Amino acid sequence: MNILVLNGPNLNMIGIREPEIYGSKTYQELELFLNNLAVDYHFNIEIKQSNLEGILIDLLQYANTRFDGVILNAGAFTHYSYALYDAIKSIQIPVIEVHLSDINSREEFRKISVIRPACKKSFMGEGFISYEKGIKYLLEEGAKS
Ligand code: DQA
Repeated sequence: MNILVLNGPNLNMIGIREPEIYGSKTYQELELFLNNLAVDYHFNIEIKQSNLEGILIDLLQYANTRFDGVILNAGAFTHYSYALYDAIKSIQIPVIEVHLSDINSREEFRKISVIRPACKKSFMGEGFISYEKGIKYLLEEGAKS
């Protein structure tokens, strides 16, 4: 199985940005964590990060014919990007929404995820484990769809 992990704006700043919310581990540590999962669970992984909405959309479209599923942490775009919602709806492979923090227990604006209805499943509030749960879901369920 080929899985694309797509991280949106400011995810490259974890470890530095608001560690009380996002933890003290860096983006490089997240990449290492994900690459280790790929070895342990025997799947192919590609990891991308962009601060730009259009690049995330390009990557989702690119993934459609090249990957079996996408793990997407859309960062703040989660809360207002209908363009990302449309991009997810446009492709046939499953997209799993993930977040490091629990967006339901933070500011009001974070409680809304406009991309969620387009995603197959959401995992949040467990730091790197949110990504692991999303990947395990794709490995177990994604292959069936
Ligand atoms: C986030 C939550 C978003 O609200 C925020 O804008 C982020 C990170 C998370 O992983 O918890 O950038 O997606």
